[in-house]
Amino acid sequence: MAAGYRRWAAREAAGSSPVYERLAHAVSADDAALDLLARLPAAKRQPNLLFGALRWHGVPVEDPATALTWLQDHWDEVRATVQERSTQTNKAARCAVLLPGLAELAARTDGPLAVVEVGASAGLCLLYDAWRYRYALPGGREHVVGSVGSAVELPCAVDGADAQLRLPASVPAIAWRTGLDLSPVDPTDADTRRWLQCLVWPEHVEREERLRTALDVAARLRPPVLAGDMTTDLAPLLARARRRLDEVAGAGRGAVVVTHSAALAYLGADERDAVRQVVSGAGAHRLGLEARAVLPDLAERLAADVADDGRFLVSLDDEPLALAAPHGSTLTFL
Ligand SMILES: C[S@@+](CC[C@H](N)C(=O)[O-])C[C@H]1O[C@@H](n2cnc3c(N)ncnc32)[C@H](O)[C@@H]1O
Repeated sequence: MAAGYRRWAAREAAGSSPVYERLAHAVSADDAALDLLARLPAAKRQPNLLFGALRWHGVPVEDPATALTWLQDHWDEVRATVQERSTQTNKAARCAVLLPGLAELAARTDGPLAVVEVGASAGLCLLYDAWRYRYALPGGREHVVGSVGSAVELPCAVDGADAQLRLPASVPAIAWRTGLDLSPVDPTDADTRRWLQCLVWPEHVEREERLRTALDVAARLRPPVLAGDMTTDLAPLLARARRRLDEVAGAGRGAVVVTHSAALAYLGADERDAVRQVVSGAGAHRLGLEARAVLPDLAERLAADVADDGRFLVSLDDEPLALAAPHGSTLTFL
């Protein structure tokens, strides 16, 4: 576990959170802390969860010595928190890197879209039309699109093949939307909101502020997110989406699209394939943002000189579209 914390400090935290980098190194060198963590189930030993729990309890994570003493003295409280809770994210900013694919699909389709998001969390990535997108192109040009009065503006640096041409002129019409999540997040619940905020890394103040504002918007708009498992509950939801689209747009018009970001990673390889088959079997489309290893058959199709640098792959059906920063701050069209 010491090696795992050291690796996490070097690979994940370095360059992004000096506070967590120091804390992860401190844990890796503290036998007493490692001893306590070893008593947890493997899935509960991860740095993000432990550090979020420390912040939940108001521990000063920027001071590793104090934090680790507190951990020893209050282990029962920390254990209860990590056992009760899990890491969870919901990033509106991921809409910025999915939006061009959504618009491309809408342009190919006669009519509006019905969006079904699997792994939707609080449903922030169902609200494409609630956000304002500020795309920064090479040479200092900007492309701004989306809801004019939105309280949430999503900056995204864009480059790659035909970047300017592939940015949409507007957000496509969404006639119906619903999310599916094993444990939907209620954006109106104060405890849930505070936990999500504790999981944002300490220096990422802008992200935390954006999360707060985006959750306010979701609390007002209440995007529907159903409790369910995408491996078993997706097929009936797609049938329902198609029926609703037929009612709203006319029989057979428009398209049902299943979106997912940082969600298929939670499934085994066979389950991911099964979800993709359910989507295509229902005549629906799939638009996703996932780590490259999650959809290896698509990642394999990238040119050999495309560095595997941690960026996620944006794909539409079986077509790799772009590489993007995992949290949606950059987009490079392929
Ligand atoms: C890392 S979060 C990503 C949330 C959101 N898509 C985003 O990009 O901000 C992954 C979500 O997938 C959900 N999830 C994991 N396995 C699932 C499954 N089998 N069915 C439905 N949701 C699942 C989790 O509960 C969690 O809310």
